[in-house]
Amino acid sequence: MTTGSLLAADLVIAVLAAAGWLGGGAASAARRRPLALGLAAFALVATLARAITITALARVGWWFAAEKVLIAAPLSLAGVVVAGSRLLRAPRDIRAVAVPLLFAGYATAGGLLVTVLHGYPASAGTALLTLAGVLAATAVSWRVLAARPSGAVSRAALATAAAALVTGAGLAVAPGAAPAVPHDHEPRDARTVGEPTRRFTLTAAATTVRVGGRDVAAWAFNGQVPGPELTATVGDVLEVTLRNRDIGRGVTLHWHGYDVPNSQDGVRGITQAAVLPGQEFVYRFRADQAGTYWYHTHAVSDVGVRKGLYGVLVVRPAPVAGIDVTVPVHTLSGRPLPAPRSEPVPAGTPVRLRLLNTDSTTHRYALAGTPFRVAAIDGGDLRDPTPLVDTAVLIPAGGRYDLVFTAPATPVALLVDGRAVWSIGPVPATTDRWPVLDPLTYGAPAPVPWSRFDKEFTLVLDRGLDLRGLLPRYAHTVNGAADPDIPPQVVRGGDVVAFTIVNRAQYVHPWHLHGHHVLVLSRNGKPATGSPLWLDSFDVRPGDVWKVAFRADNPGMWANHCHNLAHAEAGMTLHLMYS
Ligand code: C2O
Ligand code: CU
Repeated sequence: MTTGSLLAADLVIAVLAAAGWLGGGAASAARRRPLALGLAAFALVATLARAITITALARVGWWFAAEKVLIAAPLSLAGVVVAGSRLLRAPRDIRAVAVPLLFAGYATAGGLLVTVLHGYPASAGTALLTLAGVLAATAVSWRVLAARPSGAVSRAALATAAAALVTGAGLAVAPGAAPAVPHDHEPRDARTVGEPTRRFTLTAAATTVRVGGRDVAAWAFNGQVPGPELTATVGDVLEVTLRNRDIGRGVTLHWHGYDVPNSQDGVRGITQAAVLPGQEFVYRFRADQAGTYWYHTHAVSDVGVRKGLYGVLVVRPAPVAGIDVTVPVHTLSGRPLPAPRSEPVPAGTPVRLRLLNTDSTTHRYALAGTPFRVAAIDGGDLRDPTPLVDTAVLIPAGGRYDLVFTAPATPVALLVDGRAVWSIGPVPATTDRWPVLDPLTYGAPAPVPWSRFDKEFTLVLDRGLDLRGLLPRYAHTVNGAADPDIPPQVVRGGDVVAFTIVNRAQYVHPWHLHGHHVLVLSRNGKPATGSPLWLDSFDVRPGDVWKVAFRADNPGMWANHCHNLAHAEAGMTLHLMYS
């Protein structure tokens, strides 16, 4: 069983246990003896089963089980003891067990709410708030149901609940450190100076574009989706002028995967202000990394990228022989891009397919009809990639894979989620049953360049209730907090930094750190054994634990976020900061 399904199973069992206790309590209040006893027995079995799932989760990693062990388990235990001891006394009037059964139900439900609304880390504040809720609900039930209401007992319960509520709330709203916002006294970076050798102008505007034979509303750079493909050769100095004609919420350009100087990173509110209608901003940086990258707006990026404000950036080491095709995959108004294309390619021609995923969710790519190699991932060349046949690749949101092969004399097709997007000759084969490549075991290994870390951070990804803003929201959280309340990760220039990224949620979180590529060390405790993988985008699936590391060699304040851009906007964004 994967950790993701264990997390889901634990949640379902907790719901069943709570429902069993509460249902049993209601049935006994209604004097339905057999039903009440049946539900209580069911709840007891579910509670015992939960002991197994919680233990299993704690063994995978404390992050997955902390609040379950520290809050839910003691509450459930108290419920079982109270309800069980009352039931064992076999009362003649079944109504006498109603309040104990309801207490067990509130206790179980309380523990469940902690998991659903808060998660990791478990805090004393959360524990006290939960206790307050359970006691208050029990006291009220007692008042309503007890044959001879004992005023003293229910008043004591209410008083304890009130005290727990006050203390818990006090502890829970203790302030977290929020990142300081923009600072523009960065020293000028040598990588931004020099006579530009490649100049581009990108003008953002609302427009309509034709997709799959239909006109759809879009936001586009230079009237096209994707925007123009920007190309350069290593050593070029790029100068890109961004203009905004009429995008009211503002536009920026972020160079996804390109480790530019911080001042050129294009993150609204962090490295620059949004470029508003009628304004412009000039980006300048040296092309010192070869490979496949992309650019996109980073102001209301969820909406902006989805509507079309993105394009490809390709930096080549030198003029290359053969054909070089970019395949930026995107979903515009529910329609898939790019449009299918077939081209004749003479047998023997070297072909490079640059696959990009510019959506917020994973896509599956399959190249049929030829053996191929994965030459690069996220712009970085892999070490000794071996030939693959009938193997699919999963590209995370924001990620890029370069596939290379020599054109055969027979048909070849690239399918994305089963749809042919590029081909040589007629489309062959179905690819749905192909195995998926695991990049952590592909290619030849090399030793990890560091033996110790100067800084280690753990990011536990989850969902939770965020009450700090104007409106409460069910946010995507990191370590129990949502943007802008997640403390920044502070490093010093030169530090070797390790991140452990843990996903407790039932969502895939494609992780993306700006300004740096991270080296994958392990996933779920298993070390990476393939080619060194220097990534800027990787899928942290439900239950996954990734360990990655990098050298802090690009000073500034960098966004570090989930690249499911809706999640990023819903709280899952934090910052890496140089001290
Ligand atoms: Cu491609 Cu912060 O984004
Ligand atoms: Cu996410």
